[in-house]
Amino acid sequence: MSCLKKLREKYLAGEKLVFLTGYDALMADILAEAGVDFILVGDSLSNVIAGYDSTLPITMEQMLWHTQMTVRGAKGVPVVADMPFLSYEVSVEQALINAGRFIKEGGAAAVKLEGGTSAEPVIKALTEAHIPVCGHVGLQPQSVLTLGGYSVQGKSKDDAERIKRDALAVQEAGAFAVVLEMIPSKLAAEITDMLSIPTIGIGAGPHCSGQVLVTHDLLGFNERKLKIAKRYAEMREVALSALKSYVSDVKKGATPSEENSF
Ligand code: KIV
Repeated sequence: MSCLKKLREKYLAGEKLVFLTGYDALMADILAEAGVDFILVGDSLSNVIAGYDSTLPITMEQMLWHTQMTVRGAKGVPVVADMPFLSYEVSVEQALINAGRFIKEGGAAAVKLEGGTSAEPVIKALTEAHIPVCGHVGLQPQSVLTLGGYSVQGKSKDDAERIKRDALAVQEAGAFAVVLEMIPSKLAAEITDMLSIPTIGIGAGPHCSGQVLVTHDLLGFNERKLKIAKRYAEMREVALSALKSYVSDVKKGATPSEENSF
């Protein structure tokens, strides 16, 4: 059964869907074993791994390379590749070429792109070309320069209505799912009830059809704690303590021991 059919069956059965970010084969392997439904090669790669302060600088080639790594480790779990800033806005033709590269060269099962009513023609063209698309509305981090920050969206009545229109447009254009980012729980619940495709929430409360997070946030790799991400581990602490022990052991001559030597 295709991954989209499986996703649809789970959604119709009321099973919560789990998407998590992965950027390389090592993490993809762990995510696959943990039982996630989809792995997202998010353009958050730009912040989380590449060290930029936004998602804007990451390029098509870099996203493509990380998609390939992720697919190699994913043990058949479907991978969604995030289309980077300006890889789909210039023209529908360029969007088709770039999305096609994620499928043909990257091995992705689908692409994700930000935008509501404005992205309708692109989503329509991609789905007509048989490229599955996941939409992304609410907070759209690629719009940070015009938005002026990463705040919760849809708090006013007008803004909430705009996000509802965006979500509907994404569904009508043919997307198989839509990410709802940083919107009030009540609005996310209304959109989830209104749509007939799954909503995947991040900072959008518990009433979405599924959830997505940046894996590094929930594993506690960063010092900074985020309200939207419950931490299930403190990996930075674990790594720091292990590395400090190693440094100290090498300084003392305690490692490598006979056991680690030939
Ligand atoms: O880039 C990303 O990681 C995302 C989120 C939805 C997690 O788009």
